[in-house]
Amino acid sequence: MIKVVLIGSGNVASHLIQSLKNNNSIDLVQVYTRSKKSLENKIDTTKITTEFSSLKEADIYIIAVSDKVIEDVSNQIPFSNKLVVHTSGTMDYKIMNPKNKRGVFYPLQTFSKNKEIHMQSVPFCLETENEEDYNVLEILAKNLSKLVYKIDGKQRKSLHISAVFVSNFVNHIYHIGHELCKKNNVPFAILQPLIEETANKIKTLTPLQAQTGPAIRNDENIIEQHLEALQNTTYKDLYQKLTLSIQHAKKL
Ligand SMILES: NC(=O)c1ccc[n+]([C@@H]2O[C@H](COP(=O)([O-])OP(=O)(O)OC[C@H]3O[C@@H](n4cnc5c(N)ncnc54)[C@H](OP(=O)(O)O)[C@@H]3O)[C@@H](O)[C@H]2O)c1
Repeated sequence: MIKVVLIGSGNVASHLIQSLKNNNSIDLVQVYTRSKKSLENKIDTTKITTEFSSLKEADIYIIAVSDKVIEDVSNQIPFSNKLVVHTSGTMDYKIMNPKNKRGVFYPLQTFSKNKEIHMQSVPFCLETENEEDYNVLEILAKNLSKLVYKIDGKQRKSLHISAVFVSNFVNHIYHIGHELCKKNNVPFAILQPLIEETANKIKTLTPLQAQTGPAIRNDENIIEQHLEALQNTTYKDLYQKLTLSIQHAKKL
């Protein structure tokens, strides 16, 4: 049994709690949160602590808190020589206190508290400061997911940037589409088959091969009409920049 202490109660931590506590090979010893209320009904209350000084002994400490406080949280772990990992896509493990053995346990997925996730299909990107710690982290990850990768810091950062483009930015683009639909009294659901086909297409074609639309066709007349119709200057600017980026990608 791998003993795990989880620190955090946000989007990632909530999903990890669910998967860790339901796994027979893992003993989720304790969860740290600043407010017990945030973990109501998620885990047995005897396993929750709000004090770093009360943290229990474990094999692995997972820090799943906001990026800017990972360093501070790592300083508050009252143990040395333990394996401590964070879940960030970009932060270096070296920001954490060197009194412990450090690593990264990055789940490459978009997590929101109120949306279920199938953890077995979440890619886990692992990195450890010491080679000998990799094995135990890999066993932990393989208990949660079928997709486990050894990824170094530079690769992870580039994956995170890619994830921002293909998930966070794409989702924002959905928001723009949603707003335009609402403004013109058309249901956003009409766009659903297009959204699904766009995502499905790139399973068999490269994104460049799959590209359609006025930008790749160099349809200046349509592009101008679209820019004229867009009232929001930020969206207009975004439309122009994305059009240029598509046209540039075509030339490369
Ligand atoms: N969400 C994603 O899709 C996703 C995906 C992969 C990786 N990650 C990474 O996972 C980590 C957590 O992200 P998240 O989305 O779960 O964040 P989140 O939902 O915003 O939760 C942040 C957590 O940090 C805690 N926290 C904030 N300041 C703190 C402090 N000073 N001391 C102790 N705890 C503090 C919060 O506690 P309170 O609840 O008490 O405020 C909360 O539990 C980040 O490194 C992020 O980059 C996120």
